[in-house]
Amino acid sequence: MRDASAPPPAIELRGVVKAFQRKGAAAPVAALGGVDLDIAPDQFLSLVGPSGCGKTTLLRLMNGLVLPDAGAIRVNGAAPRPGPETGFVFQSFRLIPWATVAENVAFPLEVAGTAPALRTERVAQYLELVGLSRFADAYPAELSGGMKQRVALARALATEPRILLMDEPFASIDAQTRELMQDELTRIWERRRGVVVFVTHSVDEAVLLADRVVLMGPRPGRVLATYDVALPRPRRGVDVRARPEFAELRAELWARIREMVISDPGSDFFRRSG
Ligand SMILES: Nc1ncnc2c1ncn2[C@@H]1O[C@H](COP(=O)(O)OP(=O)(O)OP(=O)(O)O)[C@@H](O)[C@H]1O
Ligand SMILES: [Mg+2]
Repeated sequence: MRDASAPPPAIELRGVVKAFQRKGAAAPVAALGGVDLDIAPDQFLSLVGPSGCGKTTLLRLMNGLVLPDAGAIRVNGAAPRPGPETGFVFQSFRLIPWATVAENVAFPLEVAGTAPALRTERVAQYLELVGLSRFADAYPAELSGGMKQRVALARALATEPRILLMDEPFASIDAQTRELMQDELTRIWERRRGVVVFVTHSVDEAVLLADRVVLMGPRPGRVLATYDVALPRPRRGVDVRARPEFAELRAELWARIREMVISDPGSDFFRRSG
């Protein structure tokens, strides 16, 4: 039961079911088989689980990009809908190929009707944050995968959304830059707060960043377990990795994942694990 003094959840999922009918397939794929989840305001939540367990589908439902077959989703008390209050970092970067880096970052600000002066300021600020100021006039085709991913991150942050949905945002970034980006994201979030739902295949990254880690299982996708992360803030990767709480939670998560893989060798946790 929820504590009566606790604030209502920012995102609330009740019995969410979603199936997809693929063309030519006999039966629909059960992507999510009844997901219940409350995300508190100002919570940083990581989502881990094998490939195909419905992580991306869950984010798209939270953004109103797809509708559930059954169950209910409320975001700040209302039906979710795409808009500037919700930032989305897609698993594929989805940059506009004919627009420059700066134009890509400016795009959601334009849609939100941000005044041109503030728009220019935000674009400069967030490009600097992701280390791409010098590439403001470059086109996506001229960038590496990691750079594209950083543009997508700057674009999602630029509207300063209260809810940030991030689908493996660091998966194609090299290891060193990834650690820097993890610390940057932590720093930004610790300053601004808001809800972050962060999908990753890296158990370490999930624990390092989040207040709460949700472990999902496949066929159909569902929540297997949730863990509170008892690590202090402000957090920095180098300090946190050395702490016993980090090692304990990491070991616990790996034990559950190992069980999952042993009981279902077809589950694909390791596809892109980091
Ligand atoms: N638009 C779609 N049409 C048909 N099937 C879909 C669609 N979107 C997702 N699925 C199916 O739903 C299931 C869950 O997919 P989803 O992309 O949410 O998984 P995921 O956990 O994000 O996987 P990954 O870790 O590989 O990104 C998969 O079996 C997938 O094939
Ligand atoms: Mg996915």
